[in-house]
Amino acid sequence: MCGIVAYIGHKEAYPVILKGLKRLEYRGYDSAGVALLNNGLKVYKKKGKVADLEETLVGKDLHSNIGIGHTRWATHGEPSDRNAHPHRSQSGKLAMIHNGIIENYASIKQELVNKGYHFTSDTDTEVLLNFIEDIRINNGCPLEEAVRIALKRVVGAYVIVLMDEDDPETLIAARKGSPLVIGIGKGEHFLASDASPIIEYTKEVVYVNDYELAIIKADELVLKNLGNEKVTPFITKLDMELAAIEKGGYDHFMLKEIFEQPHTIFDCLRGRMDATVGSITMSGIQQYADQLVNANRIIMIACGTSWHAGLVAEYIFEELTRIPVEVEYASEFRYRNPIVHKGDVIIAISQSGETADTLVAIESAKEKGAIILGVVNVVGSSIARTSHGGAYTHAGPEIGVASTKAFTAQLAVLTMIALKIGQMKGTIDDKRFMHLLNELNDVPEKVSLVLQQDEQLKAIAEKYKDASDFLYLGRGYNFPVALEGALKLKEISYIHAEGYPAAEMKHGPIALVDEKLPVVFVATKDAYHEKVISNMQEIKARKGKVIAVVSEGDESAKGLADDIITVPFADELIAPMINVIPMQLLAYHIGVAKGLDVDKPRNLAKSVTVE
Ligand code: F6R
Repeated sequence: MCGIVAYIGHKEAYPVILKGLKRLEYRGYDSAGVALLNNGLKVYKKKGKVADLEETLVGKDLHSNIGIGHTRWATHGEPSDRNAHPHRSQSGKLAMIHNGIIENYASIKQELVNKGYHFTSDTDTEVLLNFIEDIRINNGCPLEEAVRIALKRVVGAYVIVLMDEDDPETLIAARKGSPLVIGIGKGEHFLASDASPIIEYTKEVVYVNDYELAIIKADELVLKNLGNEKVTPFITKLDMELAAIEKGGYDHFMLKEIFEQPHTIFDCLRGRMDATVGSITMSGIQQYADQLVNANRIIMIACGTSWHAGLVAEYIFEELTRIPVEVEYASEFRYRNPIVHKGDVIIAISQSGETADTLVAIESAKEKGAIILGVVNVVGSSIARTSHGGAYTHAGPEIGVASTKAFTAQLAVLTMIALKIGQMKGTIDDKRFMHLLNELNDVPEKVSLVLQQDEQLKAIAEKYKDASDFLYLGRGYNFPVALEGALKLKEISYIHAEGYPAAEMKHGPIALVDEKLPVVFVATKDAYHEKVISNMQEIKARKGKVIAVVSEGDESAKGLADDIITVPFADELIAPMINVIPMQLLAYHIGVAKGLDVDKPRNLAKSVTVE
């Protein structure tokens, strides 16, 4: 959350930064701004999206070969021009962008106010910037040294990038907890929150680590730790193409990403499982396989959609490995003094790999001796690097704020891990193992078949778009799918929606049912199918509108459901990867039918790097 971009080199900085900010807008879109050096330090900022900033700058002389830019997701201070980044120091000499939160900003601010500093915004960023400036003035030290001293006092998470009017040759950046990637070009450097603003120019990047400071000139990159010792930059080659981060003819990233799923699931399975010979190979898991096999319990830690993937995986792991699984909201796990023993296995699930709640939760469990396995999409991200081992989901960049293809890829990876461990433990017989491997193999094709029902889902969306509430119901493996359906609808269409276990409905939520309430049933053939159909009867008897997702050839919802969506039959353990597709498409089409910006829903940001 919050996107930062910076450039230093021989190009015009503004177009590079503007394009980069548009690519990072998924991280926040409350306001945007840039600072450039053109006859002195110039800062331009505007409430709203990057396009609003761009519009105000048309026709201005923006020539500069150095610059910093920011797109904001508000934490301290409402979204407004004055709270937008970059911020300027009191002397006007320094400009800074920041992603993260300075938790002890109030006490630092008070110190500065006592010294006569005035603040023009409500942000923690302006406090940190003036704190740095104050140290520089009082100590008469170089900016780099002032940053180092200031950061030793700071509690919180940050990536900061500073520009100094008196030193047009240098950018200074530092990181703790929030992501920073530096792209290395020929006589130029690119800085960004992720690699998407960089890949068009260079594939050589350095992921800056926590507590590192970068001093960047056009042709030189120096990394130091906070003890002022040089650190050798570790250069990584990006394995990503520009096309992967563009819309490719779709109206929205969300739709593109929903439609990519046959490929992303295939890519995730490819090279890892072979259904013909019955093998699963996952090198990042293999080295911890013994710990997994002998684990007394497994804890899954995640947030949002990734947490829903964890809930499905709980059922899968317990079924196939007979190891008890707990699924924890990362934000709750960290702060309730959880019981973690040396050798406990924790699986952290995250698309971005930067979610602060998940990151701090696994860091504290790691300190207690737990083994952390990451199921992460973004290569080189903080969670991936903090984990001892794990497996990437290989879903490619997910830019739409609502998570879609990451969920199915997470399930594919988690299912493979559970199958592998179950096979090693002997808790699954060969026949079932082979059957499930074949079922996994068929998922990409079955997902393609569901995607063919896009037009039908669009029509259903049109019919129900004005509802004020929705209920999503499912049982067993389909219960987390119902939760995910409700979350997708809430975030994309702003319609209140709740997911429940279908049988739990009679313990309270059934009071909500009347002729206006659409109730989505995830009711594909499984062990509880008949009971779910009875639950459907109960809704119909109270005149609720039933939208049912059923298995092909199943007639049991006929006469009960107002709208029926059929999906190919799959083993119940595999079915969530298929059944979630109509949930995603329904939410998408309702959001579009309501005229909303589905790629950038209000108040949200994709990569939630604050706790
Ligand atoms: C929902 C959504 C969020 C994320 C959550 C975790 O569509 O996008 O609920 O799933 O913020 O993010 P990651 O998976 O990046 O840790």
